[in-house]
Amino acid sequence: MCGIVGYIGKKNTKEILLSGLKELEYRGYDSAGIAILQNGVFSNFKAVGKLVNLEEKTKEFKTNDFAVGIGHTRWATHGKPTELNAHPHLGEHSYVVHNGIIENYAELKKELQAGGVTFLSQTDTEVIVHQFEKNMKVLKNSFEAFKKTLKELHGAYAILLVTKEQSDTIFFAKHGSPMIIGINEQNENYFASSDTPLIGHCKSVNYFEDGDYGYAKPNEIVIFDKTDTKKEAKLTPLSQNRLSAQKDGFRFFMEKEIYEQSSVISDTLMGRINDKEVIFEELSPTLFAGINEIKLCACGTSYHAAMSASYLFERYAKIKTSLEIASEFRYRDPIMTKDTLFVVISQSGETADTLETLKMAKAAGLKTLAICNVDNSSIVRLSDATILTRAGIEKGVASTKAFATQVSVFWMLSLYIARLKNSMSEDAIAAQISLLREVPAHVKVNDAMHERIKRLSKRYLHGHGFFFIGRDVFYPLALEGALKLKEISYLHAEGYPSGEMKHGPIALADPELFTIALLPKYLHYEKAKSNVEELSARDSTICAISQLEFDKADDFIQINECSHYMLEFFEMMVVLQLLALEISIRLGNDVDMPRNLAKSVTVE
Ligand code: F6R
Repeated sequence: MCGIVGYIGKKNTKEILLSGLKELEYRGYDSAGIAILQNGVFSNFKAVGKLVNLEEKTKEFKTNDFAVGIGHTRWATHGKPTELNAHPHLGEHSYVVHNGIIENYAELKKELQAGGVTFLSQTDTEVIVHQFEKNMKVLKNSFEAFKKTLKELHGAYAILLVTKEQSDTIFFAKHGSPMIIGINEQNENYFASSDTPLIGHCKSVNYFEDGDYGYAKPNEIVIFDKTDTKKEAKLTPLSQNRLSAQKDGFRFFMEKEIYEQSSVISDTLMGRINDKEVIFEELSPTLFAGINEIKLCACGTSYHAAMSASYLFERYAKIKTSLEIASEFRYRDPIMTKDTLFVVISQSGETADTLETLKMAKAAGLKTLAICNVDNSSIVRLSDATILTRAGIEKGVASTKAFATQVSVFWMLSLYIARLKNSMSEDAIAAQISLLREVPAHVKVNDAMHERIKRLSKRYLHGHGFFFIGRDVFYPLALEGALKLKEISYLHAEGYPSGEMKHGPIALADPELFTIALLPKYLHYEKAKSNVEELSARDSTICAISQLEFDKADDFIQINECSHYMLEFFEMMVVLQLLALEISIRLGNDVDMPRNLAKSVTVE
């Protein structure tokens, strides 16, 4: 969580920092700040709320010629979103920005306070700058003081620190939170938590590894690894495509991303299917040798995609599949056996809980596979193998196209494993592949349907809650529909297996309880229908989604004709995404930056 930028050079430092933060604002937006050191003088600005507030505050401030600057956009962990808690944090002559959590901050703070240091914020971050200055007083060398400070910190961090003692330099460290540096021909240095702020400024970047630390100044970058061994920057070309980062006339990024699903799923399938088989060039067939079980581990929407996969893997690949929520798995002393392939699923590739489970699986000697949307992310770099989902940059905090591509990858992967294990006939695989080819057409948003959902949405702005219900693979879709709605509308919504409603939740049924019922024609239709009828009989307000007419519903959204339940899955996915979007818009919420959330959850 949180976004960090840094710059050393002669261009307009303020603009570079602010535009970099704009690109990272999705990572956290409860406050933001910058500190710029120019001609030995620090200028520091902070503002609560979105970045526009900081832009407004810095309107009159100008930088020219050489300067060193750092900036931060915050998602609060320790301390409320106030100006005092916003980064950069100040010592006597230094500023720091940090992403992550310093776990031993309370002990350090106590010691520093006992030594006479006054703290201005409630954050864990502020200890870094004071600890650095304390070490500086003894060691009289900024880099040695920085290095000693890092050894004293426990937890996860990406840190940038600037000090008047060395006014042309940024000190950096990465341990568990993402950080990259970009370099260009003009000898400028750019730091950021992800690629996007660097697009247009640098052609190549270095992705720091966990444990890397060092400093950068004009003409010099010095990097040490976790064993304190000096190492060279490893430059990787940076994609220069910023086009997808713009809204293209849509009201919100989320809306644009829903509309993009058809083309990104085509990209996801591209080169990976022919008429007979699924080809993952990125996978070696030996990855599955000796594997008797697949364990899928993820958080949030990625977890829902994983849950869909668990049905497909057992049904098609006939392989035992288990499912784990990453934050639970981490702390429950799980049994890990080497005949298990450990699969992590993550849009960002930076989710702290998921990353940690990957480390656990690796430490236990399991083979690992990542299904991820961000190349070069921490999860991708750590996994034995990766399938990239190719959804492109996803900016809306509520994940849509990433989920669509994750499920597409899983459907392909179930057929890939089915072929390896001979668990399906060639003809059956070929038939499924031809269905896969139909997915892009089924997720295309149709104007009439969007219009209908827009109109319908006004009936669903109140009530005491929503139940999204489905069976089999439509249960994870129901969970995902409920998550989308609660994230951006702030209405209470739950996903439930249709058959489970009568075991308790049906007690809630009344006209103010909204049931969004997923009724696929090709998977347990009669059974799911009976479950909805039970709710209808108890006067719950029902909105049914199906390709078959259903007269027991108050509202009915008819999807296009489909010949298979997975195509119905993708059709219904779009309906649920649009329904959440339109309800949120009617409620006047900020769809792309819903309250209390951030795009990439890099804290546990
Ligand atoms: C919901 C959403 C989150 C993420 C979750 C995991 O719309 O976006 O639930 O799915 O935080 O993130 P990744 O997939 O980046 O690991």
